[in-house]
Amino acid sequence: QALVGLVGWRGMVGSVLMDRMQAEGDFDLIEPLFFSTSNKGGAAPSMAKNETTLQDAFDIEALKRCDIVITAQGGDYTSEVFPKLRAAGWNGHWIDAASSLRMADDAVIVLDPVNMPVIKNALAKGGKNWIGGNCTVSCMLMGVGALYKAGLVEWMSTQTYQAASGGGAQHMRELLTQYGTLNAEVKALLDDPKSAILEIDRKIVARQRSMSAEETANFGVPLGGSLIPWIDRDLGNGQSKEEWKGMAETNKILGQGDGFGTPAIPVDGFCVRIGAMRCHSQALTFKLKKDVPVADLEAMMAADNEWVKVVPNDRQSTIHQLTPVAVTGTLTIPVGRVRKLAMGPEYVGAFTIGDQLLWGAAEPLRRMLRILLD
Ligand code: HSE
Repeated sequence: QALVGLVGWRGMVGSVLMDRMQAEGDFDLIEPLFFSTSNKGGAAPSMAKNETTLQDAFDIEALKRCDIVITAQGGDYTSEVFPKLRAAGWNGHWIDAASSLRMADDAVIVLDPVNMPVIKNALAKGGKNWIGGNCTVSCMLMGVGALYKAGLVEWMSTQTYQAASGGGAQHMRELLTQYGTLNAEVKALLDDPKSAILEIDRKIVARQRSMSAEETANFGVPLGGSLIPWIDRDLGNGQSKEEWKGMAETNKILGQGDGFGTPAIPVDGFCVRIGAMRCHSQALTFKLKKDVPVADLEAMMAADNEWVKVVPNDRQSTIHQLTPVAVTGTLTIPVGRVRKLAMGPEYVGAFTIGDQLLWGAAEPLRRMLRILLD
């Protein structure tokens, strides 16, 4: 059995990955070798077979033993260890959740239900670096990839509603703590049905505006009861890094644009952090190359992969099936609100949601492992 090194398996993405690997029986097919950045020599988790001791995640010789390494340890780890490992002559497969290597020419962004041909082509050419995509891009393409595969998209504009989990575990805790703080601030008034709503509102905004640096340590400003229309770095051209990824990664996943010798499809819009826990949502506007009936578009998306669920564009279906609350913890990618927009028959709107830790992070990695083991 292939010796598979697992790095960063204890963190949030890593834990979801371990759960999914156990649920799908992946450990039956591999000899896992667990690494740690802090607890070398400790006991490996129960999925270990023969290799029951934790290895040092910075030990290049130990990593070199692996046929495949899967890491959810983060970008700093990748940037430090990956070049050393390759320089030491290691020729195994590197599967990574972090963004560091994503845009490298010799890396493929893996999302096999969408880009199996790109993966197979790279494998045939000896590709060894398999990187998970940006969470919101991966979830979006799982939902509406069919329209791209059919060559129908002239351009797409995205407005995202991204959950706290995209920042990390501490961000989720901070959001919930803020909600609790705000509730406590007006609890007595809320309990009194005769209290004035504008007084509650005044107290809430005063408390939000007086939140300390400690209370906003992760997001920098209050997120509970607010939103933040900027995610990731400031590229200095008016665009956030997260917004840049939308076009760069969508095209790279699909195997087109820079590096593939074909024109890139324009993808742009605004990325917004909202107070959801772990599901990223997106309102999409498509300019299609031709007028296609909504029913045909829905049928194409529904047939694209087994996880897409087309939600009828009516109020009851939408509010029950097309929300982060409905989707969290599932692999279902609902796509709804599909309708022609007022701008003309080629303009189509849609709304889609995905669990940022599943299709947005862990699932494409374990599926790439299975592809390599096949
Ligand atoms: N950049 C994403 C976010 C994380 O902040 O939501 C997942 O790629």
